[in-house]
Amino acid sequence: MNSQLAERAQRLRQLINYHSYRYNVLDAPEISDAEYDALFNELRQIEEEHPDLRTPDSPTQRVGGAVLEGFAKVAHPEPMLSLGNAFDGDELRTWQERLVRLLPDVDPDSLAYVVEPKIDGLTVVLHYEDGLFTLGATRGDGVTGEDITENLRTLRDLPLRVPVSSAPVVELDDEAVQMAGPPARLVVRGEAYMTKADFERFQAEQAASGKTYANPRNTAAGALRNLDTAVAASRPLRVLVYSVVALEGVDWTPATQWQALGYLRALGFPVSEECRRFDDFEALVEFVESWQPRRHELPFEVDGLVIKLDAFSLQQRLGYAGKDPRWAIAFKYPGEEALTRLLEIRVNVGRTGTINPYAVLEPVQVGGVTVQHATLHNYDYIRDNDIRVGDTVAVKRAGDVIPQVLRPIVELRSGSEQPWQMPDRCPVCGDPVVQPEGEVAYYCTNASCPAQLVRGVEHFVGRGAMDIEGFGIRQAELFVDLGYIGDLADIYTLPWDEIAALDGYGEKRVANLRSAVEQSKGQPLVRLMTALGIRGVGGVVAESLAEHFGSLDAMMAASTEEMESIPGIGPKLAASVENWFSHEANRRVVEKLRAAGVRTEMERAAVAAGSQPLAGQTWVITGVLPTLSREAAAALIKTAGGKVTGSVSARTTYLLAGENAGSKLDKAGKLDVPVVDEAELRRMIG
Ligand code: IVH
Repeated sequence: MNSQLAERAQRLRQLINYHSYRYNVLDAPEISDAEYDALFNELRQIEEEHPDLRTPDSPTQRVGGAVLEGFAKVAHPEPMLSLGNAFDGDELRTWQERLVRLLPDVDPDSLAYVVEPKIDGLTVVLHYEDGLFTLGATRGDGVTGEDITENLRTLRDLPLRVPVSSAPVVELDDEAVQMAGPPARLVVRGEAYMTKADFERFQAEQAASGKTYANPRNTAAGALRNLDTAVAASRPLRVLVYSVVALEGVDWTPATQWQALGYLRALGFPVSEECRRFDDFEALVEFVESWQPRRHELPFEVDGLVIKLDAFSLQQRLGYAGKDPRWAIAFKYPGEEALTRLLEIRVNVGRTGTINPYAVLEPVQVGGVTVQHATLHNYDYIRDNDIRVGDTVAVKRAGDVIPQVLRPIVELRSGSEQPWQMPDRCPVCGDPVVQPEGEVAYYCTNASCPAQLVRGVEHFVGRGAMDIEGFGIRQAELFVDLGYIGDLADIYTLPWDEIAALDGYGEKRVANLRSAVEQSKGQPLVRLMTALGIRGVGGVVAESLAEHFGSLDAMMAASTEEMESIPGIGPKLAASVENWFSHEANRRVVEKLRAAGVRTEMERAAVAAGSQPLAGQTWVITGVLPTLSREAAAALIKTAGGKVTGSVSARTTYLLAGENAGSKLDKAGKLDVPVVDEAELRRMIG
């Protein structure tokens, strides 16, 4: 009887691992979530009743929960080296000239190169024996890492057994290799990371309980190096692999990096879609130099590109110079990090009353702009990183994120640096500052502290929210001070005649401001939801909520269960939304907004009535479009009824391609997926 059950369990594991791969790696599920859950529950039940049938590759083992004693040391099969850097095209050329010099018998024109994104995550080294994931380690000092297997098991897109699908084929340029079975031994190197969107959602969820996280990288690192595996399981971590470190017991082995990437992909590993192969070095330089704007459109943070000589035989001949391989180099974009002096620490009062410390810096150029202020997140962050007034600090600006102080440069201390204390009174209203039990944040205890309302108004009228032009912190302060604004909805009943009589507010200016306020009433629901300033509800979360509920009323009336059933909304966020609506004052604000004519419902009616030309279609976007950002293009497609996914498959209806389109374009060609450009998309949606 047990052998039949064992077989069923085995089959279920295979099915679940395969469908989880379709969903998490290919973004192209073949079955519904409910069908998936049914398979999963069946397996879980079998395993609960027969624990001996539980195996290490069982997807039920991804949930975490074990608390480890410590991390064992792992010796890497070969040193995990780092890379030398190039900062412009000429430095790249110098690197290539050296390769050519060191390979005198090789025709330079025959050399090929692979370009990959340099993912800003944590190096992980993954070991597979007979296809089974047996060990995962950090990079450590490059020679020895730490065994973080149990934490890595929780990563949804990390295959627990390879190949993931039966009879996989490695697609090469002019041949296809059928894989016989799993390799006896395989070690791969990759990068564990968190996507920007997942980080934003995670951060929102945590903000609801007062916790703050600096950036995706630190958040991922903290989870992977945590002894409680539940921490990793609760953070949306992912992995991308890029190197075969060791491979034994196979009839075919890749001869080039490009083939290795294809091999890893065929085994079922997530491999970046951004990788490109070049035969012509000048074309590569041009690509690399023009790639920079693209980095902000990628779903994950990158700190540059990695360029590798393609042929393994040549890589081997070139070897290493110190700890850097001669056959690879990192191309880094100009400094997103800089050093400067921290002159002073000040605090401001946030929308929810949080007392937020920030640094006043000696002005410094970071990533092309002058930075004078940077966030210090919270008191714990300052204390844990031992940041002191007078320190030389590293400051970082990534994408459009607010600049942040990363760490002090302890070696540069003179001894006069001063540790900082949280003030015990609110700098605006003078009420006591408290730190609630279990929270990281400090709060001003005065619920009607004017600073909170001013910040709330500033947020409401700001970009990404109601976007009222000409309305900023100055106006917010002035109108709150004058008593014109007592809550957010008062923005729509401002006494314009009185304002016109104020110093500096001529008729023209008032007319403009008034018309901007009027216009904002037509902002879509998602903007309003963002604008309300509910703890944890930023653009991404607001979109999920607006999409699901369609109106503020429906959202207000929702049960906790319904709220938590929305993807990306966890219990804390649900509680935060409920808590917001449970306040009489907030409900009154919603009523007043509605009465003022602000749009509190999503306009689905018009859309449903026939203007959905892309209904039922699945789109993929690649490359740099002439005018639209990827987000904007995706939004257009979605409003026209289409769906947008991350990778090209046989189910893709259209590939929207711009300049520098990479492997997705090739794949579309192979699968006969029609390719359109931005102009064509615009024609299709009229
Ligand atoms: S190749 C000897 N490829 O960047 C080969 N590294 O300074 C060295 N990284 O710590 C690694 N993306 O973790 C390589 N596509 C990629 C990468 C990559 C990110 C990280 C790697 C390493 C650092 C190199």
